[in-house]
Amino acid sequence: MMEQLEARSLRYAQGGRQLIDTLDLALKPGEMVALIGPNGAGKSTLLRMLTGFVTPDSGECRLGDRPLAAWPRQQLAQRRAVMRQQNLVTFSLPAAGVVAMGRAPWPSAGAEAIVDEVMALTGCSELAGRDYRLLSGGEQQRVQLARVLAQLWRDGAPRGWLFLDEPTSALDLFWQQSTLRLLHRLSRQGDLGVCAVLHDLNLAALWADRILLLHQGRLVAQGSPQAVMTEATLTRWYQAELRVTAHHESGRPVIQLRA
Ligand SMILES: Nc1ncnc2c1ncn2[C@@H]1O[C@H](COP(=O)(O)OP(=O)(O)OP(=O)(O)O)[C@@H](O)[C@H]1O
Ligand SMILES: [Mg+2]
Repeated sequence: MMEQLEARSLRYAQGGRQLIDTLDLALKPGEMVALIGPNGAGKSTLLRMLTGFVTPDSGECRLGDRPLAAWPRQQLAQRRAVMRQQNLVTFSLPAAGVVAMGRAPWPSAGAEAIVDEVMALTGCSELAGRDYRLLSGGEQQRVQLARVLAQLWRDGAPRGWLFLDEPTSALDLFWQQSTLRLLHRLSRQGDLGVCAVLHDLNLAALWADRILLLHQGRLVAQGSPQAVMTEATLTRWYQAELRVTAHHESGRPVIQLRA
């Protein structure tokens, strides 16, 4: 079974600025969480902290019964995967090789079948033999998604905690929809928790179970999309002029910028 992931009283300062300010949160298996907030709010910093790449000045992140820092690196890598905002590959490697890198924490038996399966799921099968560096931005993003799914793959499904920093920023409409549907479906299977930074509030509103709104390192609102994505809340924290209406099928919020 999955261990719970929890953050308690996280604080973190850099260059004289409080980037994360007394932040608590708990992620639940089977749930898809969207982390939203303006540029510089601390979303990527928080993701790095929740995944153990940055140590808070005070407070802690716990996975199960232990702080993240107390987990052996390989065991942690088998339980949580991270797709960053930027992914540099500086040497020539076929896309399938990038996805196979996700299997590093696991014994090599069966890796090829898993790589094939996650590449099919993410629509990357045709890219398998192509040089990753020559792929388009959106193609690279899908390959990276396949890589993190491969990392968490165990007994026929991804299991653990999946952290994604703007996973759809380079995707066209078709792939935005496919990707969010896929993540939603995989999280519903119960052994996967997804936490994604999303700038596209309409995608977040349609597919997230819970929204966390970060502003200057603090969680200033959290709850269902309907609860968080109101005109008053979004206008206050983003300073943009916008309107919120209801999605025609789901009733979830639709955010429209004013011209
Ligand atoms: N090492 C550092 N030293 C000083 N400031 C930093 C450091 N790392 C990040 N920051 C600052 O912390 C703030 C939060 O950065 P972060 O990358 O977490 O924002 P973000 O919410 O992910 O923004 P974006 O939406 O633009 O990706 C920014 O103002 C950034 O300049
Ligand atoms: Mg960021």
